[in-house]
Amino acid sequence: MSPEILQKILKAGKIASQVRREGAVKLAVPGTSALEVMDFCEKRIIQLGGQIAWAQMALNETAAHFCPDDDDKTTMKDGDVVKVDIGVHLDGYIADNAMTIEVGKTTHHKDLIKAAQNALKAAIKLVEPGRQLWELGEAQYSEAEKMGFTTVRNLCGHTIDRYKVHSGVSIPTYNNKDKTELQEDWQIAIEPFVTNGKGLIKEKHPPTIFMLEKEKGVRSPHARKILEEVRHLNGLPFTTRWLTRKLGKGATAFGLRELQQNGSVRPYAPLVEVNNGLVSQFEHSMIVGKKTTVYTRHEDDEW
Ligand code: CO
Repeated sequence: MSPEILQKILKAGKIASQVRREGAVKLAVPGTSALEVMDFCEKRIIQLGGQIAWAQMALNETAAHFCPDDDDKTTMKDGDVVKVDIGVHLDGYIADNAMTIEVGKTTHHKDLIKAAQNALKAAIKLVEPGRQLWELGEAQYSEAEKMGFTTVRNLCGHTIDRYKVHSGVSIPTYNNKDKTELQEDWQIAIEPFVTNGKGLIKEKHPPTIFMLEKEKGVRSPHARKILEEVRHLNGLPFTTRWLTRKLGKGATAFGLRELQQNGSVRPYAPLVEVNNGLVSQFEHSMIVGKKTTVYTRHEDDEW
């Protein structure tokens, strides 16, 4: 890895960790609106010199993939379990990180949150070239189980590449027997999701997050305008809010429908625990090495 690329990755990580923490602090206040904080996080990424890969959050039984639309009325309530997932890139070099907090002064879900933290810590300790993926999964699962919870088995960490959030290898959150070995210089994100539910998620429509997969010919001017808006993202995700602010609600919905039907755009709907269990999540990005570099760790992180 060249020093220039490494610098970009490290800087993206620094920004991502700071925005994650600032977003979490804001969301911890009862009455705060989801929309307000996600707008803040996006602005803050730019202010700190980064480029937005995404700013997402998820509440309680939703594990991931929620972005509020402009008319969304979601506000934080005491005891809510909130995940903040922030992605920053510089020239396509991505930092991906997430954390969970409980809103307000209650501590009902302290253990659920701690279990995901412990799971991440235990897995990171094992990261080195030659380590097999199942071992990372086993470590995460056993930390969750120790505290009476389970991991969400159909969510996983992932390798990262330039402009690619998931670049092919999945890092399990349980022992799935995958003997693939970590390689030196791989960029990976480990993200245990822990729940008091069944340990499985399903999609809940409608989606507000999309990714451009492969541009195909379109008929409507609405679809064409959306392509013009998202092409420069190089396949990184976008949210409906960005589009409705420029193109309006009707045109966005119409255009997105066409783009999904012709296979240009793929939706990422909110992921909800099948038994409506509460879900916590922690995530760091790192570069695998004899000495692994966890590049999204904030000085206040205890994990
Ligand atoms: Co991730």
